[in-house]
Amino acid sequence: MGLLRSFESPIALLATPAHATSPATTSKDRGSFFITTFGCQMNKADSERMAGILQAMGYHEAAAELEADLVLYNTCTIRDNAEQKVYSYLGRQARRKRALPHLKLIVAGCVAQQEGEALLRRIPELDLVMGPQHANRLETLLTQVDNGQQVVATDDNHILEDLTTARRDSTICAWVNVIYGCNERCTYCVVPSVRGKEQSRSPQAIRLEIEGLATRGFREITLLGQNIDAYGRDLPGITPEGRRQNTLTDLLQHIHDVEGIERIRFATSHPRYFTERLIETCADLPKLCEHFHIPCQSGDNDVLKAMARGYTVEKYRRIVERIRKRMPDAAISTDVIVAFPGETDAQFQNTLSVVEELGFDQVNTAAYSPRPNTPAATWPSQLPEAVKVERLRELNALVERVARQRNSRYAGRVEQVLAEGVNPKNPQQLMGRTRTNRLTFFAAEQPGGYLYSPGDLVAVQIESVRSFSLSGTAMQ
Ligand code: SAH
Ligand code: SF4
Ligand code: F3S
Repeated sequence: MGLLRSFESPIALLATPAHATSPATTSKDRGSFFITTFGCQMNKADSERMAGILQAMGYHEAAAELEADLVLYNTCTIRDNAEQKVYSYLGRQARRKRALPHLKLIVAGCVAQQEGEALLRRIPELDLVMGPQHANRLETLLTQVDNGQQVVATDDNHILEDLTTARRDSTICAWVNVIYGCNERCTYCVVPSVRGKEQSRSPQAIRLEIEGLATRGFREITLLGQNIDAYGRDLPGITPEGRRQNTLTDLLQHIHDVEGIERIRFATSHPRYFTERLIETCADLPKLCEHFHIPCQSGDNDVLKAMARGYTVEKYRRIVERIRKRMPDAAISTDVIVAFPGETDAQFQNTLSVVEELGFDQVNTAAYSPRPNTPAATWPSQLPEAVKVERLRELNALVERVARQRNSRYAGRVEQVLAEGVNPKNPQQLMGRTRTNRLTFFAAEQPGGYLYSPGDLVAVQIESVRSFSLSGTAMQ
């Protein structure tokens, strides 16, 4: 298992790492490290930056977690099961530390932010508890640990520009954070309290990072934010016509021509900020890939209102229709929560109808999980576990059927695939993704090697279609 192990994230959708880069060699070896990532893409991107910092400090990757001199858990608290998972891992490492006092034990990410010092009381063996806003400060914090302190870094922090080079899992696809935090107040969600207020990076800093990535051979970038389409609300600037400048649309135009980058994606989009202008721009910019992740959460207006989502089913439907009008083949994925407090059977049926009607390419489903410091967790209308399980089962069955049907449109088509690496399960095949983000395996062998290399855009004749992936043959 590689250095950056990660669990399926609640909003997993885009590039999963193709293969690991080799560790950087540094003169001063401080020992080995192992990072486990539990959360979403933002969490994974933070892990990549922290891995970069550790390598720059002179740490090298451990082959296995139980051999590492420094163990870092980058945690997630979006649902209770995500949070509990980390405690079982920590118990094992705390026991290990009792025998190996030099072991450094770090909890980063959203559980760290939520629990803060309480984590130290629960697991006194911890050296460092650090919230997500402190990821780029890892070196400073570790210096304090080296000086014998037990450190908790969870105060509100202006996120520094990352001066190190993230150690990225892929050599072809890279994530680029553009906005941190969340200013919404969805009644079920813990993110605003653990990720803080929105902080947008400047368009100049973002472009500079992308230019650097292009120089190092990256071909695809995914702009990241909890609500990516809220980008720029905290930046100054109004056009002479009175329009706000520095929107996501402006940013896409600003970075589109970076030479060497072939594909641009962004995630996650909030329906509230997904404008017509953004849709037009996506349709017009050739590198912009036709895949949009826009969580709807529910197909019922009263539930949406109770969730404080700030849009209606009608508004959501209009967004999907407009996207499909301008980009008929676009893939649209979403997130849905079932059994929100008070959700009636009829309201749940409305969600099923919307999922069926809109024909999503992929849906991340979850049963509602009460979270600390969120209003919905205190409501008396909580639904029993059995209802959660049954609704989730029913929705998942529908999602599987809809996704399979959506996927069938690829049969016999020729798709442009960006080769990311060799299929680990079948070395005769390369793997990559379509513009619509479908994982695709394709035969590309020739005597003595492959017809194509990672980073190549390949025309693939699709021959077989499964629910979540495609296979075919590279055309010559
Ligand atoms: N900012 C994005 C989503 C980020 S959280 C948005 O607003 O759309 C990722 C997903 O986790 C959410 O879309 C939601 O479906 C799920 N989620 C968040 N809180 C949850 C909770 N308390 N219980 C179950 N699922 C939850
Ligand atoms: Fe959570 Fe809502 Fe913010 Fe998304 S928009 S991260 S669901 S509070
Ligand atoms: Fe989880 Fe934090 Fe992301 S709670 S979903 S890792 S923002």
